[in-house]
Amino acid sequence: METPVWVKHEKMKKWVAEMAALTKPDRVHWCDGSDGEYAAICEEMVEAGTFIRLNQEKRPNSFLVRSDPADVARVEDRTFICSKTKVDAGPTNNWMDPKAMKAILNRLFDGCMRGRTLYVIPFCMGPLGSPISKFGVEITDSGYVVANMRIMTRMGRQVVEAMNSDADFVPCMHSVGVPLENGQKDVPWPCDKDHKYIVHFPEERAIWSYGSGYGGNALLGKKCFALRIASVMARDHGWLAEHMLILGVESPEGEKTYVTAAFPSACGKTNFAMLIPPGSFDGWKVTTVGDDIAWIKPADDGTLRAINPEAGYFGVAPGTSEKSNPNAMASIRANTIFTNCAMTPDGDVWWEGMTKEAPAGLIDWQGRPWTPDSKTPAAHPNARFTAPAGQNPAIDPRWQDPAGVPIKAFVFGGRRSTMMPLVYQSFNWTYGVYLAATMGSETTAAAQSAVGLVRRDPFAMLPFCGYHMGAYFNYWLRFGRNIENTPRIFGVNWFRTDKDGNFLWPGFGENIRVLKWIVERANNHAKAIESPIGWMPRYQDLSWKGLEDFPESRFKELMAVDRDQWMAELLSHEELFMKLYDRLPKELVFTKELTLSALWSAPEHWEFSRGKLEPTED
Ligand code: GTP
Ligand code: SPV
Ligand code: MN
Repeated sequence: METPVWVKHEKMKKWVAEMAALTKPDRVHWCDGSDGEYAAICEEMVEAGTFIRLNQEKRPNSFLVRSDPADVARVEDRTFICSKTKVDAGPTNNWMDPKAMKAILNRLFDGCMRGRTLYVIPFCMGPLGSPISKFGVEITDSGYVVANMRIMTRMGRQVVEAMNSDADFVPCMHSVGVPLENGQKDVPWPCDKDHKYIVHFPEERAIWSYGSGYGGNALLGKKCFALRIASVMARDHGWLAEHMLILGVESPEGEKTYVTAAFPSACGKTNFAMLIPPGSFDGWKVTTVGDDIAWIKPADDGTLRAINPEAGYFGVAPGTSEKSNPNAMASIRANTIFTNCAMTPDGDVWWEGMTKEAPAGLIDWQGRPWTPDSKTPAAHPNARFTAPAGQNPAIDPRWQDPAGVPIKAFVFGGRRSTMMPLVYQSFNWTYGVYLAATMGSETTAAAQSAVGLVRRDPFAMLPFCGYHMGAYFNYWLRFGRNIENTPRIFGVNWFRTDKDGNFLWPGFGENIRVLKWIVERANNHAKAIESPIGWMPRYQDLSWKGLEDFPESRFKELMAVDRDQWMAELLSHEELFMKLYDRLPKELVFTKELTLSALWSAPEHWEFSRGKLEPTED
């Protein structure tokens, strides 16, 4: 394919020509982003056996894709931050000397697209025309990536035109790493089982990804650009790039408050962003701006403005149901790509938790017949849907506002079966940074690693921060000092369990009870009580309308601050701090000491009973 006439950007053309010379594809295709192009690529993928067209009545214009079982999630141990020095990447990132890494990549990419099409995907992270948005160009040999990028970003001709002849862009190089030599037949999901490299060059603002076709490894606008590279850009230019959902809350009085929340992967961002309050919460409404990433910039009026750099949802399928997340179910009714879900005999998709009972005659995510007696789940635990954000019935009217939405509160929360209360507010910005920096979570299937262990996941950014995590904490501390009205910072935990392992909190739509308290606190009109770790609601400070049978004793169990557990927790913070010692801001060390002393000498309104610290009645 000739370079289309609408490409006037010489630097882009030159880079594409260089990459084509390196990778030696059979064809080059510049994506215009049109409906026709999307349909044609999907059709090609159907013919290649990669896409399965779903039942046109049940799931119009939707497809199921089964990945190679060796390529099902982000590969954190194969993800590299190749800054000039190792200390800049910090101890929580894999690092390799950029020159050494480039030598490896040049060898791997040499001829890696033989027999394939090289697709050029010009894309924009954020609404076109927003001063917060940024351009990227992804080169890939995967039609699956093109189709997903069409949903997840603004892409194609409109973007190239917006870039004119000279806009900056982040070059994003991707290959599945399986050249087809001499007419060799392709497989439905090509990937390199032995060599995977997800590589970032933060100073150059460049991304190279090899060997995987899955999610964050391959849709390079998402984690690679919008978080790892953007976190470095943000540090250099005074803004924030965060692993956060953005939602709007409207009170019955019509007061609108925007909030962001950082939860680690597969810990409920999509669910929280699409929350539907229960019927008893008459007049309260939650709207979605974004479900995974927030770019946040101080505005001239002293507010912090957030945009969602994405245009779609790449959401966890298992657990999504009409009961847990009706807005997600509506978002995926059509025009959706399903990856590693199970298939029903009538050509629809299914996954664990979608319905109580599994339909008969299922085919599992690897294409094998499945029954409830099967030893493995029907859908992969990290099965995902890719759906256009505009299909969400709860989409916020301002979700594409180029100016962004004003943020009043930052919420942080992991998956903790013990010790972490349902909700608390940090005393101030520094305590809030401490709360976020020391966040822990029990691991999930979103990354290829052991599931269920507590790992520190600072700001839910552990796998996504493009520089030294200690320097990142310091940047957050400094950032707060330069804002007129710093948003309030809260910790939440939906996942605390009783001694039998049952969740103490109903979660999902009921989370509005906590969210309501959060926005009221952020707007300075809700009560709280001082605890050693922060401000907490008492039982009477939350609304229990429609949930009157929730016992106060259970609430106390949810909110309890157990001294011994907290001591052990603080000790494990020390472990993180030692790891980050060379760049750790001293404020965090002092905050830990202050928290420790507060735990030892409980304030007036608190008392130790059976080793637990509980709120007392007035
Ligand atoms: P990434 O897309 O990986 O960044 O994750 P995410 O944070 O968007 O995850 P998502 O919203 O898809 O979380 C899915 C998991 O969280 C499912 O297992 C849900 O059942 C669970 N979950 C979400 N909200 C709640 C809740 O309020 N309570 C409980 N117990 N589980 C929840
Ligand atoms: C996550 O793991 O946090 C995701 C999915 O949002 S992926 O895009 O694959 O990283
Ligand atoms: Mn995520």
